[in-house]
Amino acid sequence: MVDFVNIIRPDDWHLHFRDGVMLETVVPYTAKVFGRAIVMPNLVPPVVDAVMMRSYRDRILAAAEGTSFKPLMVLYLTDDTSVQDVVDAKEAGATAFKLYPAGATTNSASGVTDISKVADVLEKMQELEIRLCVHGEVTRPEVDIFDREKLFIDEVLSSIRKQFPDLKIVMEHVTTSEGVDFVLETENMGATITIQHLMINRNHMLVGGIQPHYYCLPVPKRNIHQQRLREVATSGSEKFFLGTDSAPHLRGDKESACGCAGVFNAPRAIEMYTQVFDEMDALPNLKAFASINGPKFYGLPVNDEYITIDRVEPYDNPPEIPLRNNSASIVPFSPPGGICWKIREWCKKRGNR
Ligand code: DOR
Ligand code: ZN
Repeated sequence: MVDFVNIIRPDDWHLHFRDGVMLETVVPYTAKVFGRAIVMPNLVPPVVDAVMMRSYRDRILAAAEGTSFKPLMVLYLTDDTSVQDVVDAKEAGATAFKLYPAGATTNSASGVTDISKVADVLEKMQELEIRLCVHGEVTRPEVDIFDREKLFIDEVLSSIRKQFPDLKIVMEHVTTSEGVDFVLETENMGATITIQHLMINRNHMLVGGIQPHYYCLPVPKRNIHQQRLREVATSGSEKFFLGTDSAPHLRGDKESACGCAGVFNAPRAIEMYTQVFDEMDALPNLKAFASINGPKFYGLPVNDEYITIDRVEPYDNPPEIPLRNNSASIVPFSPPGGICWKIREWCKKRGNR
């Protein structure tokens, strides 16, 4: 039995840092482990242009001081995004735009109401080779929440794909077998997979009482979908890569009569992914999923450091983490049964082994 793994320093291709004291509290968990992260723009108000993006990047870099972490910035696509916004974003170093169908999830009210409204913008993104990250769920109220991903593929994603065949698209936090199939059979498509969708299914969230800290969007599905995600993530396919979707909310906002969606999984994220690969007997494929497939899809180099992760006795994440000003707390994700891997060395330069 293998009791440690060495991998190239990983990146997180999807997460939320928020702003203010929340940002200061959560950034260090990501910045000390991951080389880069795609930072989602669903702030209030959302990050919609290059000016807002630059200033958000500066706030993130200040919170990551003392590390070599590099945030990769994403702009929020709205009905009002212009072709000039795409040109300016490219010049300011943006990595991608994020498409939230209006109303799909936390702070998505300004999202796109109809794809035809952003056709010229998508055309420009295709030309300038900016990636499109999509939250793949329809939002029509009559559609069952468990079917929203499948319908998004049939009604929206397939037609974007046909209209802009060279646009590189990431299906964020894929959760269904249908989503996996679409990604596998479609050119220029990749997908991120979260740790919670690999570790839990809807039973963990709903049986024996509602577990608000397991609630996120897209909502965890049946165990057969979870199993499919575990198989494809650990298969070595270069279309799938690590994206935690770490999405912190205050404890009180989760443990509420109308609890918000989002799992704060940045603490011990790489350890939890390692655990899944170990359970699937696929540890040799971890480095592709965590450190190689993402940069390849985004046309970026892999990191030049490595980390070592050890097998240890099972432990849980702390029950809560206080905000930096102690005004409230956040509850980190702990999987059923605990975590049994732990980072030994952070970010050693390759060659120093
Ligand atoms: O559960 C989620 N939380 N899913 C998302 O897509 C957004 C995120 C958030 O921002 O809280
Ligand atoms: Zn997200």
